[in-house]
Amino acid sequence: MNPLPQLLLAPMQDVSVLPLWRCLERRGGPDVYVTEYLRVHRDSHPEKWILRSIRELETEKPIMAQMIGNDPGHLVRTAKAIHELAPCAGIDINLGCPAPTVCGKQAGGALLRNHDLIRRIVHELRPAVHGRLTLKTRIGFESPAEFEALLELFASLPLDSLAIHGRTVRERYQSDVHTAEIARAVASLPYPVVANGSIVSVASARAMWRKTGAAGLMIGRGAIRNPWLFEGIRDSLAGREPHRRHFHEVLAYLRELTEEVREEGDFEKESQIVNRMKKFTNYIASGIAGGTLNDELRRATTLASYEASCQRHLDNDELFAEEPGEDGTLFCGIHELGRSD
Ligand SMILES: Cc1cc2nc3c(=O)[nH]c(=O)nc-3n(C[C@H](O)[C@H](O)[C@H](O)COP(=O)(O)O)c2cc1C
Repeated sequence: MNPLPQLLLAPMQDVSVLPLWRCLERRGGPDVYVTEYLRVHRDSHPEKWILRSIRELETEKPIMAQMIGNDPGHLVRTAKAIHELAPCAGIDINLGCPAPTVCGKQAGGALLRNHDLIRRIVHELRPAVHGRLTLKTRIGFESPAEFEALLELFASLPLDSLAIHGRTVRERYQSDVHTAEIARAVASLPYPVVANGSIVSVASARAMWRKTGAAGLMIGRGAIRNPWLFEGIRDSLAGREPHRRHFHEVLAYLRELTEEVREEGDFEKESQIVNRMKKFTNYIASGIAGGTLNDELRRATTLASYEASCQRHLDNDELFAEEPGEDGTLFCGIHELGRSD
């Protein structure tokens, strides 16, 4: 039997930030935090709020700083600056972002089409990185058929681990997750592999682990929606029954997150706090009251109307669903994992 998998919070732009981290940490949290990506180019300086997240989270757990970029020299310069300004457990490089603005600049997912550049980046970064050097990849740009050659490349690199979002760049967030490719990587790479993609519940975490045997499970959207998910997975894998959660606990989480967001930001207007919160509530409210709560929160412009909607739908003892409901395309692609456990 494999040792229990390490649980990681996925990097998520605008979302995997100090306010969310604090709420997660109070509920058990992941074993490892990964920052949203720091943008690296000729004129870039490490984003101050990301460095602050690394410095100020009160935890003994490792925090990895993720960078996105394509110039080995600038990536090395930035890695050194990060180590100086916000000591962290290591550096992760983004090889998966599908955003056209990022891929258009030959960074993120677009790097998967340039193996030589990936090799140069890793070799030049290795001596500059204190601690762990990791990559977060997808299984190809256009097609899973590209994964074979990518695996050969990854196997030859001096990495500490590889996180695999089991989709191609073209598939963005919408397809079922290709678990067989992740399992192949687990079987063939000389270092630990972290499985990522549509783990949204204890059942889907167990399915991903069983199907891939990965040393780590990385969770993004599902951990925003359900901040108790890491604890639930730990309980379940240790043979304990995970606690079921109720709407009033979700309400308390939302209020706590709002406070954290308010304290963190330099907001001039209340509507800016409401808009920041929508990046989280999109996931948290998904499926609640048949989507009505999310509709109301998307329309909210004041904290009072936002709070009133939360209170109307969540100030009760109803059970919080273990799986997110169908709500637009936010959580699609979860079925392959959910079905099979
Ligand atoms: C809002 C959002 C922002 C994201 N930002 C990043 C990022 O900065 N770096 C990165 O490597 N992946 C990013 N991702 C991808 C996630 O890390 C993860 O690979 C993807 O969401 C699949 O995992 P999940 O189904 O558990 O959410 C982002 C995803 C979302 C939904």
